Amino acid sequence: MAKTLQLISGTIDKSSCVLEYMGNHGFNGLKKAITMKPEEIIDQIIEAKLLGRGGAGFPTGLKWKNMYAIEDDTKYLVCNADEGEAGTFKDKLFIEKDPYIVFEGMLIAAYVFGAKEGFFYMRGEYRSFTGRLNKAIEDLKEAGFMGKNILGVEGFDFDLHIISGAGAYVCGENSSLLESIEGHAGRPRAIPPHLPQGGLYGKTTITNNVETFAAIPIILDRGPAYFRSVGTEEDGGTIMVCLSGHAKNKGVYEIPMGTSIRDVLYDEELGGGTVSGKEIQFFHLGGQAGAIVFPEQFDTPFDAPHLREEGLSKGTGAFVVADESVDLIKYLIKVNEFFIHESCGKCTPCREGNRQMILLLKKFDEGTATEKDFETIGILSKTMSFASFCGLGQSATTAMASVLRQRPTIFTDRIQYTEEELKGVFA
Ligand SMILES: Cc1cc2nc3c(=O)[nH]c(=O)nc-3n(C[C@H](O)[C@H](O)[C@H](O)COP(=O)(O)O)c2cc1C
Ligand code: SF4
Repeated sequence: MAKTLQLISGTIDKSSCVLEYMGNHGFNGLKKAITMKPEEIIDQIIEAKLLGRGGAGFPTGLKWKNMYAIEDDTKYLVCNADEGEAGTFKDKLFIEKDPYIVFEGMLIAAYVFGAKEGFFYMRGEYRSFTGRLNKAIEDLKEAGFMGKNILGVEGFDFDLHIISGAGAYVCGENSSLLESIEGHAGRPRAIPPHLPQGGLYGKTTITNNVETFAAIPIILDRGPAYFRSVGTEEDGGTIMVCLSGHAKNKGVYEIPMGTSIRDVLYDEELGGGTVSGKEIQFFHLGGQAGAIVFPEQFDTPFDAPHLREEGLSKGTGAFVVADESVDLIKYLIKVNEFFIHESCGKCTPCREGNRQMILLLKKFDEGTATEKDFETIGILSKTMSFASFCGLGQSATTAMASVLRQRPTIFTDRIQYTEEELKGVFA
C-alpha cells in the first residue's frame, strides 16, 4: 500500500510516553506553530485540504478561518470523541494508544484562537479511559506543554478537561454535545445562533473530531504540500477506516485518501474479503447514518470528490461489510431500530417517522407489502431527511434512500398484493 502519515505512533502505557512521543516527531508541529502568526497557521491548514473527519467532511481550514474572524473575549475548544456511529472505533484507538497527537492538535488550535480552556468529550462507553487521559494531561503539564506560559510563550495558557457523556448517540451532534457539557440533557439546539458565535456557555466555540485534531500537527510539521501528496489534491492526508461485520481482517487501518474501495475491502493487508469466503454483497459506509454501497461502486477512489460523484460521502470511515448471506431488508430493519432507540423524541418527523418506517419495512419482510407501501417508503424517507430538526433524523434514512436508488427491486420483488387484494386476504 502507498505511504501513510502513521497518525498513531506511540502507546500511553509506557512511563516515558511524553518522551517517546517527542522522539516520534511529537510537538514539532506545536513548536513550529509558536513561531508563526495564527493567520499563517490557518492558511497552511487550508492549503493542506484537510476535510473534517467527524462525518460531515467540512473543510477544517475554512472553519478555523471563520472562527478566527469572530471577536470574543473567551473562546472554547471542544474535541468531539463521542464516536457513537455503529462500526466506528478509530477515535478509541487514538484515546488508547496516542492521545498526545490529538492534544497537540488542540494546543495548536488554542494558540491560534487564544483559547484558554478546552473540553475532550468522550462517549459514555469510553469512561474507563478517563484516568489515563488525565494522567497524560498531568505529564504534559509537567513537561511544559500544558498549563501556564506553554513552551515559555508569555500568555499561552491552556487547560484541558476530560468529559464523559452518558451514552446517547445524539450527543455527537455538536449542539447536543455542548448542552451535555453544560450539564443539561443532550438535546439539539435551535440554530441560529450558529455554534461559532453562540457555543459553549454562549461563547465562541470550535468543535473538531479527534482525528481532525490529530492531523493538524503533521500539517504544521511536514507542510501542507506533503500532506496533500499523501492523499489527493482536493482531499489531503489519510483516513482511519474501520472494518467490521463480515470483513475477514476486522480492525482500524490508516489509508491514503484516494485508495480504491475495492482495495480497502479485498487487499490482504486491509479487509481481505469476507470471513466466510463468500462475495461481498454490500457494505455500509460511515456508520448507520451513511449509505449502503454495492459492488458496482467498489472501484471508486475513496476521497471526497470521487465519492460525491457517486452520491456518497466518507462519513466516519466505517466499513460494515455484509456477505451474500445477509437479507438487506432485515438489515435495514436493524438500522431503523438503531434510530428508534437513539431518536431524542424532540421532533415529529424523526420520532414518528422512524416508527412508521419500521412498520413498512416489516411488511416487506413478511411479504404483505403493497405498491402503495413502496411509494410511502420513498415519500417518508424524503420527508424525514427534509423535515427533521437535527442531523440524526435527517440522516436516519440515508441507507434506505441508497437502497431505493441502487436496488429498488429488493422492495418491488417482494410486493405480492395490490391494496384491494390485500383487503381480500385479511377479510
Ligand atoms: C447525530 C449525530 C452524531 C454525530 N456524532 C459525531 C461523533 O460521534 N463524532 C464526531 O466527531 N462528529 C459527530 N457528528 C458530527 C459533528 O456534529 C460535527 O460535524 C463534527 O464533530 C465536526 O468535526 P470535524 O469538522 O472535525 O469533522 C455527529 C453528527 C450528528 C448529526
Ligand atoms: S431529528 Fe428530532 S427527534 Fe431526532 S434526534 Fe434530532 S431533534 Fe431529536
